Amino acid sequence: MSSAHTQRIPQEEIEKQYHYMQEVAALNIQKESESGKKSFAQIRNFGCQMNEHDAEKIHGMLLAMGYETTDKSENAAIVIFNTCCVRENAEEKVFGHLGALKALKRNNPDMIIAVCGCMTEQPTIVDEIKKKYKNVDLVFGTHNLHRMPELLYKCLQDNHRIYETSRTDKEVAEGLPIERASNIKAWVTIMYGCNNYCSYCIVPYVRGHERSRMPEDIIKEIKELEESGIQEITLLGQNVNSYGKDLETPVTFAALLDMICTEADVPRIRFMTSHPKDLSDELIDVMAKHKNICRQLHLPVQSGSSEILKRMNRRYDKEKYLSLVEKVRAKIPDIAFSTDVIVGFPGETEENFTETLYLFEKVRYDMAFTFIYSKRTGTPAATYPDQVPEDVVKDRFERLLATQNNICRELNEACVGKTLDVLVEGISRTSDSHYTGRTDSNKIVNFTSNKDYTGKIIPIKITSAQTWSLEGEVAENMD
Ligand code: SAH
Ligand code: SF4
Ligand code: F3S
Repeated sequence: MSSAHTQRIPQEEIEKQYHYMQEVAALNIQKESESGKKSFAQIRNFGCQMNEHDAEKIHGMLLAMGYETTDKSENAAIVIFNTCCVRENAEEKVFGHLGALKALKRNNPDMIIAVCGCMTEQPTIVDEIKKKYKNVDLVFGTHNLHRMPELLYKCLQDNHRIYETSRTDKEVAEGLPIERASNIKAWVTIMYGCNNYCSYCIVPYVRGHERSRMPEDIIKEIKELEESGIQEITLLGQNVNSYGKDLETPVTFAALLDMICTEADVPRIRFMTSHPKDLSDELIDVMAKHKNICRQLHLPVQSGSSEILKRMNRRYDKEKYLSLVEKVRAKIPDIAFSTDVIVGFPGETEENFTETLYLFEKVRYDMAFTFIYSKRTGTPAATYPDQVPEDVVKDRFERLLATQNNICRELNEACVGKTLDVLVEGISRTSDSHYTGRTDSNKIVNFTSNKDYTGKIIPIKITSAQTWSLEGEVAENMD
């Protein structure tokens, strides 16, 4: 019986994929005994945290299929591009790399080139790959990630090109292998897709409708991570505030977060992204109640002008956003805000832009991701008149960056002399005794230490500040 609610993909389908993982592994063993060489795979990842985490799933499946990963295409039996299309330059990069592999494939015709991720959910892109990139053997969409073993097996066996981008909306895959990039920090997806249709954004078209995972599946995964000693978990969703509305028994994001903090004991929990239109009082209260929820909130504003926000279809205005920031600060005074912002949205006037500058001065973000508007075919904004000229956009972008850099530096300078808890992530690139980690508020801290505290949360006394990072030393009571 079909249902309006999100369901798990049937167990038989997942088992079928495990079967194909074994089939591919058997092919690889055979190849290895013939050639004496291990089969290597290269994953080339683009885009957001969601894609980084999908790459961990791809990695998990590849290992189960008997591949070892490599960072050199020359050694690879298979190269997988996990793509992003949020802005035009992300797509151009992928096409550039695909073109560059043509020569390699001529010398090594058995090499499989696969393209998956957000780009492949656009029919025009798939057509372009078909026509211009004949070196690509396998294409599958974000909805078909769990079917990679079967598709790859067919590609290896039948030796013809395979394209699969059909939709399985209202379903989520559970129980596939994940090979995590870190044993200190982990991503946990709580929902897929987006229903918001901001007028500039391609994500809802390529990631599909909102689909939430069942709370019990999320908690199970988090408990396993807790047992493995994970120190920090980031819950992922395009808008976590919509979590659970599509489940048979609806659950709010605040209730899920409360459940996670009550049932599991992970030192740090973060989440992203929160859409300002539906950040609830209940969520602020849950954040205030649990000390292991990081004092950090990513709250993308996109523009400081109510007129632009309306045309962006963001469903809040400048006043509502600012009062939300105040409300959160009243309950959680040490909260650090971060944001995403777009410069040069169609029709943005100098006055509209000045409002964004003003909002930045007012909120004083600890961190901001600033983007130049990129026209995405198929989105409403692509047809809006008054696209802003490139030189005007560039000038605004530089001014916004300068404003934000000043704020970042001032906020960082205010940390000097303080002792902050830092989750140590490992040795920084500069020297052996130089380590790097992050504060609860997600600031980068570099420090020297004779002892290796990797994977631990330790107090660091901040000694100096830069725009993007802090310098410090291990607080005296630790050494
Ligand atoms: N779901 C998240 C963000 C996903 S995309 C949210 O709503 O906040 C990440 C960021 O890319 C967005 O926040 C936006 O700032 C930016 N972005 C999306 N589409 C864009 C476009 N067409 N041009 C420029 N930046 C864009
Ligand atoms: Fe894109 Fe808006 Fe959805 Fe974020 S909320 S993914 S910006 S449509
Ligand atoms: Fe992420 Fe890019 Fe897709 S930002 S959701 S990988 S379009």
